[in-house]
Amino acid sequence: MKCFKGERAARGSGLPDVGRRRGFISRVALLGLAAAAYAVPVVGGLLAFLDPLRRKGAAGRLVRVASLDGLPEDGTPQKVAVVAERVDAWRRTVEPVGAVYLRRTAEDEVVALQVVCPHAGCTVEYRDAASGQGGEFFCPCHRARFDLAGKRLDKVSQSPRDLDPLEVQIRNGTEVWVRFQKFQFGTSKRVPVG
Ligand code: FES
Repeated sequence: MKCFKGERAARGSGLPDVGRRRGFISRVALLGLAAAAYAVPVVGGLLAFLDPLRRKGAAGRLVRVASLDGLPEDGTPQKVAVVAERVDAWRRTVEPVGAVYLRRTAEDEVVALQVVCPHAGCTVEYRDAASGQGGEFFCPCHRARFDLAGKRLDKVSQSPRDLDPLEVQIRNGTEVWVRFQKFQFGTSKRVPVG
């Protein structure tokens, strides 16, 4: 194969190979930078899209809801908002996540019930004895009634199950903590959601 003198000299010195390698490395580096520039917003968008999945909510977590001293000693139920900390990849926020009824017993224990009616998700109300209805929980949507332990009062009730009880812990003798949980409504089974 014929070869010009200058070309032979250049090949002998290895200079064009070094140049080609440098050019190749530069192109690879540029491609890497371009890919990284595209990847950042794509990954960010993907994380934002998945944010609710990554978020740690209040479901199933113990949340401090009240002080034992703040609950009536006569056992009158108190409706208490549940405010919980939510943590996701970007921030830590405190927000209301629901409510519970708390009732202090004669033994200084606390019973907690979800305020959500198991029939269709309305919020049940407490009606005290002075209202002429006796102490009970009452759902204004379809008139289901529950006793103070959350049991259905009517033989035929719109509600497919009793009110949902929640685990309670008393810490340091006075702090009332509840394992907050929501449940599927419209079913006789107690199925946790969220
Ligand atoms: S939602 Fe409570 S009885 Fe229907």
